[in-house]
Amino acid sequence: MTTQTFPSRVFSGVQPTGNLHLGNYLGAIQKFVALQADYECLYCVVDMHAITVAQDPDELRRTIREVAAAFIAAGVDPQKNAIFNQSQVSVHAELAWVLGCTARIGWLNRMTQFKEKAGKDRENASVGLYTYPVLMAADILAYRATHVPVGEDQKQHLELARDIAQKFNNDFAASIEKHGFGDAFFPLPEPLIQGAAARVMSLRDGSKKMSKSDPSDQSRINLTDDADAIAAKVRKAKTDPEPLPSEAAGLEGRPEAANLVGIYAALAGVEQAKVLGEFGGGQFSAFKNALVEVAVEKLGPIGAEMKRLVADPASIDAILKRGAERAEAIARPNFEAVKDIVGFVR
Ligand code: AMP
Ligand code: TRP
Repeated sequence: MTTQTFPSRVFSGVQPTGNLHLGNYLGAIQKFVALQADYECLYCVVDMHAITVAQDPDELRRTIREVAAAFIAAGVDPQKNAIFNQSQVSVHAELAWVLGCTARIGWLNRMTQFKEKAGKDRENASVGLYTYPVLMAADILAYRATHVPVGEDQKQHLELARDIAQKFNNDFAASIEKHGFGDAFFPLPEPLIQGAAARVMSLRDGSKKMSKSDPSDQSRINLTDDADAIAAKVRKAKTDPEPLPSEAAGLEGRPEAANLVGIYAALAGVEQAKVLGEFGGGQFSAFKNALVEVAVEKLGPIGAEMKRLVADPASIDAILKRGAERAEAIARPNFEAVKDIVGFVR
């Protein structure tokens, strides 16, 4: 165990791949906004992770800016926090190499996201897709970040980042001490995965998570959907014939109902129990009307602001550049220390 304490710092990343949706918002971006009051935060558009699967270059450029716009439209203040894209800060790639020599093949072989994304034809997946979690560990550890807000699906990757940090601290313990960093160089980053909507499910199938890559657009609410689209998707969302229960126990075995209640609770900022107290015993149609209302109220202004921001790409690029400079100023000295610790001459 280390006795070292590290200053609190928040890091998180979102891939610029396809449409941002309600799951990204409730699982991650909404928390980014809340954390900025209490922490120094870095929010990164992880374009290098995006190219682990094929991307169209023009579309990638567009979505990098769109994700940055979503952070800002949702309320992340670019004056207060560093908003930047990963490829502009080369420490991410450099540290990923070093940490790739710390991580073990056996650890990566257990990663379920790789198995899902690679599918049956694993031999044909990119090497980058396989080492994706090492780059993610480098993202976080480049800033010696202590807290990482993410959705439930990233839990395993965060555990791997902790394992890599711990092994680096152990492997280089003597050198870390010698260079004046005490008994640990990297903190063990903690995932912040909580709340009613850490895992938002598809509107068409309560057993699948809401995802950018689902071929059915009806399965998700995109941040850029207008009020009519949101209303249509919520009204068509899959449910079951029973009325809503009045207590949480009644949601068991009813994934679609549980999902909609969780979404309502997260959007309205209330406890699930309160939602059930209000709508329990009633028909789904009334509850869905209320859900449409809160969803449009919350997401409508975000979508509109995103559209306004992306219409001026030069301003977004300036924000990303400034963010990258701030990020670099933290990451570069950390990486110079890593070089000393592992024994590189510089
Ligand atoms: P990604 O789109 O994979 O880069 O994810 C960006 C962030 O959104 C990560 O923190 C994910 O954990 C989170 N996220 C993605 N899908 C969902 C979902 N269906 N429910 C909750 N969080 C999600
Ligand atoms: N893997 C994350 C996702 O798909 C994105 C990500 C990349 C990330 N690097 C990160 C999240 C560092 C948190 C911290 O959602």
